Amino acid sequence: MSDTSASVLLTVRDVRKSFGNHEVLRGVTTSIGANEVRAVIGPNGAGKTTFINVVTGIYAPTSGRVSLAGRDISRAAPHSIVREGMARTYQIASLYPSLTVAENIVVACRAASKFSKARMTDAISPREYRDRMLELFNLTRLAGRQVAEISHGDQRLVELAVTASLRPRLMLLDEPTAGMSPAETQQFIELINTRLRSSCAIMLVEHDMKVVMGTADTITVLANGAVLAEGGPDSIRNNAKVQEAYLGSAFAH
Ligand SMILES: Nc1ncnc2c1ncn2[C@@H]1O[C@H](COP(=O)(O)OP(=O)(O)OP(=O)(O)O)[C@@H](O)[C@H]1O
Ligand SMILES: [Mg+2]
Repeated sequence: MSDTSASVLLTVRDVRKSFGNHEVLRGVTTSIGANEVRAVIGPNGAGKTTFINVVTGIYAPTSGRVSLAGRDISRAAPHSIVREGMARTYQIASLYPSLTVAENIVVACRAASKFSKARMTDAISPREYRDRMLELFNLTRLAGRQVAEISHGDQRLVELAVTASLRPRLMLLDEPTAGMSPAETQQFIELINTRLRSSCAIMLVEHDMKVVMGTADTITVLANGAVLAEGGPDSIRNNAKVQEAYLGSAFAH
């Protein structure tokens, strides 16, 4: 997808990131469309989380450029990148454990109503919006429960709901199904396909090939901090280099 295309949301150009002498990202170039679901896969230590950290402003790239909707955000702080319309989840849940599920969502809705006004086309009240999000994520059943006391899988679901409540243009998910049961994972796949993909672009780092193949329009394979291959699920599945570097073992367990 070319940089000038109106439908490109995120552009990453030759991004490098070093920690001391250790070059973790070695020139990553890709772009993500406005309604695309992108999976980033690769062996442990390939640089996937670092890539998300650079895109979301946790780390500035050592060199290269990241732009969102044509705006250079390479050196922007994480909070201003959130305002530009990027929201992420972490490998480790980042919720308010002593608040209820509904309260956690309200916190995100309030934040969104402050900084995402321009992207809000519907005129619904915060309470209605909260209830809509609870329903969308099948969390109405847990609305009044403290986050600390619900299952790990349900916490992951709340985290997703909180992230979506920020009304992002691009949602970044780092191993969203880690700790989920097979049934919860299936529910997650359906959620992406039936609800989330129509509202924003999604970039997810994921080891579960069922999730990757069941949701992604395009897959980027990172190995040793560089893009080994990029393409649709079938072309990636059948790519000999990818098989050798990663998929052989990924499909084995
Ligand atoms: N803050 C940091 N300081 C130094 N080295 C780091 C830092 N963050 C990551 N690294 C190194 O960068 C490399 C890539 O790590 P990263 O966490 O990005 O991999 P990953 O692809 O997400 O792996 P996993 O699949 O295990 O989550 C690793 O060698 C890691 O030790
Ligand atoms: Mg990681």
